[in-house]
Amino acid sequence: MTRFLYISDTHWGSGDSGYTMQPKYDEKLPVLLVLLMEWTEENGPVDFLLHGGDVIHETEDSSIQAAAEYFGLPLPIHLCLGNHDLTAQGSVDTWMRLAPQFFLGDATDFAIDTDDCMIHVIPNQYGTTPFLWDQTQDPHFLPAQIQTLEQRLELASDRTHLILTHSPVLDVDRQQSGLHKPFHQPPESFTTCVMGLVDKYGVTCVLGAHSHVNMKRELNGVNYITVSSFVETPFEFKLFEVTSDSVSMKTHNLLDRIDFRADYNWDNVFVQGRACDRSFHTTLTPRI
Ligand SMILES: [Fe+2]
Repeated sequence: MTRFLYISDTHWGSGDSGYTMQPKYDEKLPVLLVLLMEWTEENGPVDFLLHGGDVIHETEDSSIQAAAEYFGLPLPIHLCLGNHDLTAQGSVDTWMRLAPQFFLGDATDFAIDTDDCMIHVIPNQYGTTPFLWDQTQDPHFLPAQIQTLEQRLELASDRTHLILTHSPVLDVDRQQSGLHKPFHQPPESFTTCVMGLVDKYGVTCVLGAHSHVNMKRELNGVNYITVSSFVETPFEFKLFEVTSDSVSMKTHNLLDRIDFRADYNWDNVFVQGRACDRSFHTTLTPRI
């Protein structure tokens, strides 16, 4: 069995600025990671931790160095770069220089190959300059990214595949948000692109982040996931378990372990999701 943790949007260094859905305690990231490791010791073993992006708030050497220090945990860390990780020209080079351990093969795009599945990390783009977020939020992939991903998927057509990118592929279900308009709806082109790949290669699950909301939408038997911010109350994360014949996910939090006061905005309780948004269990059908 492959077991891994999924967290996102730690926004180290954001302070009082930036988008939030619940009260944020990014300055507590080091202690939250210690508590996560305590949880892992009690509920492990866990093979690795996936971070869905926005590790830091602004791309500066000191922030990346801090992230490298705090995420120096006793398990491998794999990162899908988010928009806040790419706020300066040359950000990718800076990440590879200061924190190459977060990537495989010194590349932003890579595959984690386990006994039970392949997880394809493919950070989406935002504007006209690759791997730079300046102003626009136009999630898309570069043709070369898609080509590399398709090659990997094609070469391992008998495997169980998961994809991780930063931006959500679908909006939050309005039954969950209670809103009259879509919440974090991506452009149709992005949804179509990802769903086309999912369909063509039989991908089982697509992970995203960025919205700071727990989402689980199942379409055609495929689960599309986002996770709330790890540094916002109640400090949630997901545990995935993959075997040869199933994929499952459960959402957990660290609220009963913290020793500082954490506020909660009860007007935004939809962030945590309903029970049906917080877990799933999929039985895999054998490939013929
Ligand atoms: Fe983001």
